[in-house]
Amino acid sequence: MELTFLAIKPDGVQRGLVGKIIQRFETKGFTLVGLKFMDVSKKLAESHYDIHRERPFFASLVEFITSGPVVAMVWKGDGVVASARKMIGATNPLISEPGTIRGDFGVSIGRNIIHGSDAIETAQREISLWFKDEELVDWQPQI
Ligand code: CMP
Repeated sequence: MELTFLAIKPDGVQRGLVGKIIQRFETKGFTLVGLKFMDVSKKLAESHYDIHRERPFFASLVEFITSGPVVAMVWKGDGVVASARKMIGATNPLISEPGTIRGDFGVSIGRNIIHGSDAIETAQREISLWFKDEELVDWQPQI
């Protein structure tokens, strides 16, 4: 079954949005299989955002994601990668649709509350970067 990696960023944690955000994915019907509340090392932040290394905002991106604890998660479900991206909304919260997480809760592209993998292959890379195999729980909801 398809998996995706999501991380509630330091702004989402500091604004008390963790419960609301997790609830959206639970009520949608996706299955939580990994969850960690953690500080992010500079090394992990730079690896995670490696694709943006040459962008002018790379240093501020790394500084921000390491500035306070994040909630790292793995979610499971059919089509979860694309569906979670839709639920999260466009990168810039100013143009994200209302009803999406960024559209409802954010105004800043640099503080856009949550990260979600953009493709199945990216999700595999990000999950293995953030989680050990034994930190993922293989379970099926019974309802
Ligand atoms: P995220 O989905 O975590 O992936 C890359 C991040 O880079 C993105 O969310 C934004 O937070 C950030 N980002 C993208 N474009 C800009 C920008 N122009 N200025 C600052 N941050 C940006």
